[in-house]
Amino acid sequence: MSLLDAARTVRENAYAPYSNFKVGAALRTADGTVFTGINVENVAYPEGTCAEAGAIAAMCATGAREIAEVAVIADAPAPVPPCGGCRQKIAEFAKADVVVTMATTDGATLQMTVAELLPGRFDASHMDRT
Ligand code: THU
Repeated sequence: MSLLDAARTVRENAYAPYSNFKVGAALRTADGTVFTGINVENVAYPEGTCAEAGAIAAMCATGAREIAEVAVIADAPAPVPPCGGCRQKIAEFAKADVVVTMATTDGATLQMTVAELLPGRFDASHMDRT
């Protein structure tokens, strides 16, 4: 199963009763393991947590720390890009050239690297004087 197929499948389990906008995400680590995530909303915080953050948390919980590839899918007019916060979360665990595939359930796709999604990102080198 491709990474995008994994994202498409897990998206069915997204919990989005407030936005009705279901998102699925999948990432592959350097050793080939796939982790998936969905958005989860709740009545007090209807914006919920993003699918990408869920996949990253699942990866981190196993001790893995290196993202090699990401895929995100939603039922949208155009491929849905990760939100700003998730771009930073992905960048924490992915090198600049890691590819993020964004897709719609209709089959449109867009691929961008982490560097393209978050140019000028804050990284550990900015704290070199501390
Ligand atoms: N959402 C994601 O899961 N990932 C994104 O990249 C964009 C937004 C979710 C969060 C919320 O449940 C819903 O989409 C609307 O913002």
